[in-house]
Amino acid sequence: MTLKIWRQENSNASGNFQTYQVSDVSPDMSFLEMIDVLNEKLIVKNEDPIAFDHDCREGICGMCSMVINGRPHGPLKGVTTCQLHMRSFKEGDTIVIEPWRANSFPCLKRLNSG
Ligand code: FES
Repeated sequence: MTLKIWRQENSNASGNFQTYQVSDVSPDMSFLEMIDVLNEKLIVKNEDPIAFDHDCREGICGMCSMVINGRPHGPLKGVTTCQLHMRSFKEGDTIVIEPWRANSFPCLKRLNSG
């Protein structure tokens, strides 16, 4: 699976998309668990992990506000990013992940942080 992820140092820096490959993605993983897997690999390689906001991971708080393939929280209507599962994507898909671009959710580091 290919991920194109917006990386930005802080709200004043210009950002860009960087491409990552993730393997061993289970259909039962949540979207955030898939990013956790990527982050573990980045940390082992001494690279900065993807920073993203989250709290409950139960679909309650709304903090996991990523834009996935151009849609807030991804492809499923009424489903938050943390409740989105990888079974909603196909093996070999390319997924574009961007911050929630709103003044009230400034990009503080890397992907986004509210
Ligand atoms: S982390 Fe709370 S709704 Fe996603």
